Amino acid sequence: MKATSEPWLGAILDHHKRIERLITEVRNANNPQDRRWGVRELAQLLTAHSMAEEAVLYPDISEYESKTHAVMAYEEHSMTKIQLAKLEKLDPMSEEFQEKLGHIEGALQQHMYQEEGTWLPALCDKLPPDEKSRMSERFMEEFDHYQSGAKLQIDETHSSTTHADWGCRPVMPCKPCRMTADPARGRREYTRRLGRQRWQ
Ligand SMILES: [Fe+2]
Ligand SMILES: [Fe+2]
Repeated sequence: MKATSEPWLGAILDHHKRIERLITEVRNANNPQDRRWGVRELAQLLTAHSMAEEAVLYPDISEYESKTHAVMAYEEHSMTKIQLAKLEKLDPMSEEFQEKLGHIEGALQQHMYQEEGTWLPALCDKLPPDEKSRMSERFMEEFDHYQSGAKLQIDETHSSTTHADWGCRPVMPCKPCRMTADPARGRREYTRRLGRQRWQ
């Protein structure tokens, strides 16, 4: 899809590129920690992106573009979330993990291709100008809500089997593994991966 001056559309295209980059990073990572980090980041980005689309974008696709496309889009999001939850449970260095990741990548590419190639250009042509500006504001509001919530919980939500990968040390209790999460390491790592300064 061509460059756009619509902020909501620009944000969606940017998220799509980040999703593809993260999948490549996970696939190419050569150790379990980096793969787990990558999957967690991917899940967080996909959740924020999909919640914003479901709350703000798809209702307008249904109203101005096509109800059928809107229903398809919701279904595709649900299927991807189920597959992603399965991926999180797999051994990150296993062949099954790579197969599942490939399956998710294919489904996401197909979904994003439909959004960028058909649904979004058609919607862009049909949306009234005041609805476009409302969409830009609401889309980012929804996205930021889920994305910032995810960041705040990053140090506390890992499973007990992966504490060593998250930099936990036996000094202070940490939920849920009763080891110590090292927030400084977690935040540095997270900042490095996101390319942001916010956590430093
Ligand atoms: Fe989508
Ligand atoms: Fe999307």
